[in-house]
Amino acid sequence: MLRFLIAASAIVTLAAAAQAVADDRFPPISSEVVRSECGDCHIAYQPQMLPQRSWRKLMDALPKHFDEELSFDEETKQHLLRYLLDNAADKSEVDAARKFLRELSSGDTPIRITDTPRWKDKHHELPKSVWSDPRVANKGDCAVCHTQAVRGLYDDDDGLRVPGPNESWRRWEDD
Ligand code: HEC
Ligand code: HEC
Repeated sequence: MLRFLIAASAIVTLAAAAQAVADDRFPPISSEVVRSECGDCHIAYQPQMLPQRSWRKLMDALPKHFDEELSFDEETKQHLLRYLLDNAADKSEVDAARKFLRELSSGDTPIRITDTPRWKDKHHELPKSVWSDPRVANKGDCAVCHTQAVRGLYDDDDGLRVPGPNESWRRWEDD
């Protein structure tokens, strides 16, 4: 509990500092169920990056979740869906969510964050060598570069690094 309080006050302090500039943070996932059920194979992605229609589509296709077959009991499934819908890009008040939504056309229903215009826009400058680096499992392996992704922090001040030559890591600004 004490650890939690310390972490919480650190977040509040950070929040105040970030607010002064631009608020690009995503709220960390508050549901333990979402964190554990959706954070096993990849990080539990912040729902603010996709609109409700995308989360519905993804949750309607659990038996064919990319390469995996997912199944949950009905109660768990409803909890997951509720959390994703309540915090989706078109429901959330946070600036970072609005940016993801703004660039998405209303007829588009991506089920990958990495297929959204905003994600592509932010990552198109990364060289191909980064994506073929064995340390990066795939584009959805956010936390390998955004080391604070689980806390909702994706900015280049927030522990952002990219794979460099000979197993080194570089800060992105080094380019
Ligand atoms: C058993 C493992 C597993 C679990 C549990 C799991 N996923 Fe996935 N997820 C995957 C795989 C595999 C991919 C595709 C990775 C790739 O090839 O790009 C993926 C991809 C995704 C993507 C697209 C990432 C991108 O490229 O932008 C989203 C969104 C996603 N999962 C959401 C969820 C949600 C929500 C849950 C919980 C309901 C969940 N996942 C649980 C295995 C899992
Ligand atoms: C291979 C490393 C790498 C991976 C993997 C990666 N990113 Fe990034 N990301 C970057 C870099 C580098 C930037 C900064 C690009 C720039 O501003 O020039 C960035 C920028 C961003 C930004 C914009 C931050 C801001 O405030 O401007 C967001 C949001 C973001 N990434 C989310 C994600 C998400 C979500 C994932 C996983 C689905 C992901 N990234 C996967 C390297 C990565």
